[in-house]
Amino acid sequence: MDMRKPMNFLLSLLFLLFSPSAGNAIYNVINFGATPNGNTDSAPAFLRAWSQACSSGNWATLYVPPGQYLLGQAQFSGNCKNPITIQIDGTLVAPSNYHVIGNAGAWLTFIGVTGLSIYGGTLDGQGTTLWACKALGSGCPDGATNLALINSKNIIINGLASLNSQMFHVVIDGCENVNVKGVTVTAPGNSPNTDGIHVQMSMDVMIKSANIKTGDDCISIGAGTSNLLIENIACGPGHGISIGSLGREMEEPGVQNVTVKTVTFTGSQNGFRIKTWGRPSNGFVNGVLFQDGIMENVDNPIIIDQNYCPLGKYCPGQVSGVKISQVTYNNIRGTSATEVAVKFECSNMKPCSAIIMEDVSLTYQNQQAASSCTNADGSAYGFIEPSSCF
Ligand SMILES: *[C@@H]1O[C@H](CO)[C@@H](O)[C@H](O)[C@H]1NC(C)=O
Repeated sequence: MDMRKPMNFLLSLLFLLFSPSAGNAIYNVINFGATPNGNTDSAPAFLRAWSQACSSGNWATLYVPPGQYLLGQAQFSGNCKNPITIQIDGTLVAPSNYHVIGNAGAWLTFIGVTGLSIYGGTLDGQGTTLWACKALGSGCPDGATNLALINSKNIIINGLASLNSQMFHVVIDGCENVNVKGVTVTAPGNSPNTDGIHVQMSMDVMIKSANIKTGDDCISIGAGTSNLLIENIACGPGHGISIGSLGREMEEPGVQNVTVKTVTFTGSQNGFRIKTWGRPSNGFVNGVLFQDGIMENVDNPIIIDQNYCPLGKYCPGQVSGVKISQVTYNNIRGTSATEVAVKFECSNMKPCSAIIMEDVSLTYQNQQAASSCTNADGSAYGFIEPSSCF
């Protein structure tokens, strides 16, 4: 049964009970001029509906009925009188000409909002033509993130589907208390820079029950992230779950208290990864737990790479200043697509310390896999295969 039907019915009921004349509680974007035909820019209508909801003295819901809504770039700003709920039963479609939003940073942005819940919705970034441009060479815009949450707090995102973003799918930057649940991200495995969910400069973020198939990191964790919980994720194709790249800047806030658990990686480039630039930096990673991982034919199931220096630019001959410590890998099993299933390539200036491995079982083509350590210190407990290189 289509679970959306009872939901739609419920919403219609709510709509009758709280129609705009009755309590100004539900703001249906159609009433503000949005057109569900997929080819009229409905961003101005969405923004008018948002602005009314935002200044409402009541609990406010912005409602997007089923249908396709073309939207140009839109920024929804906060300082609202009350928390806002957005129920999206339709699909929001980005302009097919990538020049329209390609240099905007993000397509849909919520900025400075306290109290926002977004339920449902499909965001179609229409990234295909931009990726084709990038594959041919230079002169293409960077591309826009589908959904950016900036400097906001008390946010719930539940049941969102993000498709073919030009760049990152969802970015959480400068936020506090964000709960992301049941999100799906879908883009081709060869689409460039299409990270699924990226978190940086944020605290108390939870990402649960996400299914991510994309061309770059399924989830990436940037500088200044603390108290992050990631749980029950399916990743692949994609580049895995990555802390980093960190340490590009000299002055950089660290990453602390990150838990990533119950993840299945399928054919991804990496599993659990920490990655830093080979450059001076005062950044750090402290207190990470990677737990209950299943690897299915993953190139680098467990990897710390502190020598990231793409194209050999900005960092030749330098070493990473990022200090990595207290990282635990617990109950990780499955198959590696390369012989070296566990690789710790740490900085010789700031060696990795207190790395703990407990119950790790990874094989390579039904044979023994290998592990490799450079400048890494730690301890291993329980069943460890490939055997520990500490
Ligand atoms: C670490 O993060 C978790 C959320 O994942 C939080 O519940 C816990 O309180 C944090 N611990 C510290 C010491 O801040």
